[in-house]
Amino acid sequence: MNDSLIYLDNAATSWPKPPAVGQAVLRFMEEAGANPGRSAHRLSVEAARRIYSAREAAAEIFNADPLQVAFTQNATLALNLALYGLLRAGDHVITSSIEHNSVMRPLRRMEKDGVEVSIIPCSPWGEFDPDDVRNALQPNTRMIVLTRSSNVTGTVLPIRRIGEIARRAGVLLLTDEAQTAGTFPIDMKADLIDLLAFTGHKGLYGPPGTGGLVVGERVNLKELQPLIQGGTGSRSEYEEQPVFMPDCLESGTPNGAGLAGLEAGIRWVLEKGIPTIRQHEMQLCSQLMDGISAIEGVTMVGTREVLLRTAVVSFTIDGLQPSEVGQRLDEEYGILCRVGLHCAPAAHRTWGSFPAGTVRFSIGVFNTSAQIESALAAIRQIAKRNH
Ligand SMILES: Cc1ncc(COP(=O)(O)O)c(C=O)c1O
Repeated sequence: MNDSLIYLDNAATSWPKPPAVGQAVLRFMEEAGANPGRSAHRLSVEAARRIYSAREAAAEIFNADPLQVAFTQNATLALNLALYGLLRAGDHVITSSIEHNSVMRPLRRMEKDGVEVSIIPCSPWGEFDPDDVRNALQPNTRMIVLTRSSNVTGTVLPIRRIGEIARRAGVLLLTDEAQTAGTFPIDMKADLIDLLAFTGHKGLYGPPGTGGLVVGERVNLKELQPLIQGGTGSRSEYEEQPVFMPDCLESGTPNGAGLAGLEAGIRWVLEKGIPTIRQHEMQLCSQLMDGISAIEGVTMVGTREVLLRTAVVSFTIDGLQPSEVGQRLDEEYGILCRVGLHCAPAAHRTWGSFPAGTVRFSIGVFNTSAQIESALAAIRQIAKRNH
């Protein structure tokens, strides 16, 4: 690991990972590297046992049952499984104006195929009114799909209140927890979530290629059309896809090594405690926001209210393209961040930062106050040189 680098791109993927994660990946490869659930020999059984253990960990962190967790390669696939699996021509779906393209693109595609889409605006200062969602309900509304937190500004949406609206209306609620799994308290049951898409490689500190969809009891599996069908190791006598979780959504050999790493990441997060992680990240986030707002020529995008955000901060520097700023930060200061539109053009339109985008700093559990100070000093210098 290069200690001189300052990694502030945790919203893209977290780095570094806790050492236990890499160790678990290696252990799986060395001790249980067979195909789980396919063969009956000891290595296959051991591989299946370790994957089930990862399922238990994922269920624990979201307050779900292990068999409700279907693993996928990332949050994008999980979201696509839910959207394509349940929405049909003639259905209506409600979403927000700050979604990532992993929600927007499937919805725009489905719109062409006859799915009606309503986009509820979030204000530029981060207000999202649940009444607007209630008022958008139609007799054919099938689903509400919302990110819990914007990957551009960290703005958190009122998921539990939307969950209440969805329940009362008999509509399904799908949440995109890509930015919040591991960094924000999530309770699938208390938050009244029916489908929860998560990524394993960000706040859960798992390896890339991990994620999942948690499917709640209100989802009728007979209506959930799998995107991918194939071998599951179960009910092999049938040529039709099984209709039970998680097999209905998990065809093909799973990423056992990645999932072993994911389990190690989740257990590490559980051990540390999400409130502790959140407190650390939000302290650094406040430090970053205070510093940025005091620099002349630098403008922060989105909300500043700490309680209602995750540790993602977007900003622009007068007279400089975000790409130029990102390049200087990397080349001259060893600071790694993400610039541009962050796969979320709708969100940037909402915050008024489209099409140039922003510079985004996203904080992880391994960042320190000294690193934030160095990052602020770098921005100060870049902004000053440009005046
Ligand atoms: C809000 C949001 N949704 C979805 C995704 C997609 O996640 P993944 O890369 O795991 O597919 C991301 C990733 O950046 C995200 O920030």
